[in-house]
Amino acid sequence: MCGIVGYNGKNKAVNILLDGLEKLEYRGYDSAGIAIRDKEIEIFKAKGKLVNLKDKIADKELNGTCGIGHTRWATHGEPSENNAHPHSSNDGSITLVHNGIIENYHELIDKLKKHKYKFYSDTDTEVLTNLIDYYYKKYKMGPIDAINRTMVRTRGSYAIAVLFKDHPDEIWVARKDSPMIIGTNKDGTYLSSDVPAILKYTKKVYYIDNLEAACLKKDKVIFYNLNGDEIEKELKEIKWDISAAEKEGYEHFMIKEINEQPEVIKKTINNYIYKNKIDIYKSGITEEELKSFKQIYIVACGSAYHVGVCAQYVLEDLTRIPVRVEIASEFRYRRPILDKKGLVIIISQSGETADSLAALREAKSQGIKTLAIINVVGSSIAREADYVLYTLAGPEIAVATTKAFSTQLIVFYILAIEIARIKKKITERNYIELIEELENIPYKAKYILDNLTRGIQKIASKFSHTKDAFYIGRNLDYAISLEGSLKLKEVSYIHSEAYAAGELKHGTISLIEDNTLVIGIVTQEEVYEKTISNLVEVKSRGAYIIGIAAENIDVSKISDFALTIPKTNKYFYPSLSVIPLQLIAYYITIDRGLDVDKPRNLAKSVTVE
Ligand code: AGP
Repeated sequence: MCGIVGYNGKNKAVNILLDGLEKLEYRGYDSAGIAIRDKEIEIFKAKGKLVNLKDKIADKELNGTCGIGHTRWATHGEPSENNAHPHSSNDGSITLVHNGIIENYHELIDKLKKHKYKFYSDTDTEVLTNLIDYYYKKYKMGPIDAINRTMVRTRGSYAIAVLFKDHPDEIWVARKDSPMIIGTNKDGTYLSSDVPAILKYTKKVYYIDNLEAACLKKDKVIFYNLNGDEIEKELKEIKWDISAAEKEGYEHFMIKEINEQPEVIKKTINNYIYKNKIDIYKSGITEEELKSFKQIYIVACGSAYHVGVCAQYVLEDLTRIPVRVEIASEFRYRRPILDKKGLVIIISQSGETADSLAALREAKSQGIKTLAIINVVGSSIAREADYVLYTLAGPEIAVATTKAFSTQLIVFYILAIEIARIKKKITERNYIELIEELENIPYKAKYILDNLTRGIQKIASKFSHTKDAFYIGRNLDYAISLEGSLKLKEVSYIHSEAYAAGELKHGTISLIEDNTLVIGIVTQEEVYEKTISNLVEVKSRGAYIIGIAAENIDVSKISDFALTIPKTNKYFYPSLSVIPLQLIAYYITIDRGLDVDKPRNLAKSVTVE
């Protein structure tokens, strides 16, 4: 996804902008640019990585203390210098960067061409630049009027930062559905698509809401609503510190975040459990409401969807409430029929995933209560859901989620146990036992990291050139195999599939041949023998088997490489079996010499549909 940054203050803007863009690289991009305002506005853009932009300005004397910057993840128009942001209006009076998609840009281009505007790029963004210019010149009511008229006229998503030629020392911003955060300190004001880009400068931030605008001056920020009235915004404090957004000695963010899992699982548990008592009620949801839900819908994308698949097994088994799990991009367009007494749970690390945000809005439009399980405080989904349960994973920089995934699982276990308690589906004794075992998970996760990492690192090179991989399991082992498969695919580019072990014989087993890699997850006592039989079936067809099993289940005879994880309550195994799956994906990718933190074509947060 695109990233935008801005600075207006006492210091030179260029280094602050470049540093901020570096912190946003994890969002995925294919070109970059900055605009620095000194006497004039100077624009510099380059295709490819940030280093190309840095080379372009290396010999420039850029003393301007106001500027905006952008990393572009192409949606309209190929990756090129011409399509890179910032974009300018025809006479250069408006300069703009944008994250999002303008859905009605064709009609807007036609309108503007009738008013003699010309377009030099293939982007939708250029429309915004000229539309602001059009309103600014036509109504002569200043920047906020031009921006508000543009917002009213535009359909789609945007976080924009704008420089007006005849408004020096001001950066104007506006947003709808794309993320933006605004910071301030004694040296000036800052804007960014995400926290890591400004955390080095300040923890004091404003969250700008949809269809709001703001003017960043050197010493203050003025906010406006869509009518152009000034509005007050509360200055908030970010709880993260910058080290959390740095590698701290690890080679990559992904391996750092895999190793942070014990700590952040513990933090998340401690945030909701105190002295063997669960408290999720600070979210605002009540026991009465939890008791009243007749149906639960879990809606998410990617790995967050896989958390939902795991959660379905746990929630239904413990609470006896029917649970449906849906992919957000399907849910939002299939005109879902929702139970008025239902609860829609949206899971999202970023809280900005466009499809998940749209699913939330679909649920709300039907008057259904919504609960969000989110990692980024103040994100769009967090702000629009009725209730929010935050994961305490801290900033997750690697595109492939690991620690956020694990903390989302923990929040679901806690939710399921609490609902089971208030619906009297478990005894007080069960409740305590589940909580006590849950509190062991961080230590068992640490045990796995300390004892299995080396072996996985060694075996990984054997598979780094495999063409296909199959992940199989039953029940929760099937659910977590989905995540194992996606982890491998998204960072190593090796094709993989997750399959319900019992489903293999209905077709897919025909793909198994000599040395096909099959990773079998075997932790669920009620079905493990059947999974072992399925492993025997693929073994007899030549498969190479990596077995990941609970310590009370022996898969060594059937596995070419067996990994044992500590015993735990059946519901909690995904939190343990996911760790070897993450390590397998990571070390195979490293062996393939790929950029494991920033995989090709991927973005950390998919804020466009
Ligand atoms: C997972 O490793 C991927 N980065 C991706 O599937 C991700 O889980 C998905 O895009 C959802 O993102 P969200 O949790 O921020 O909504």
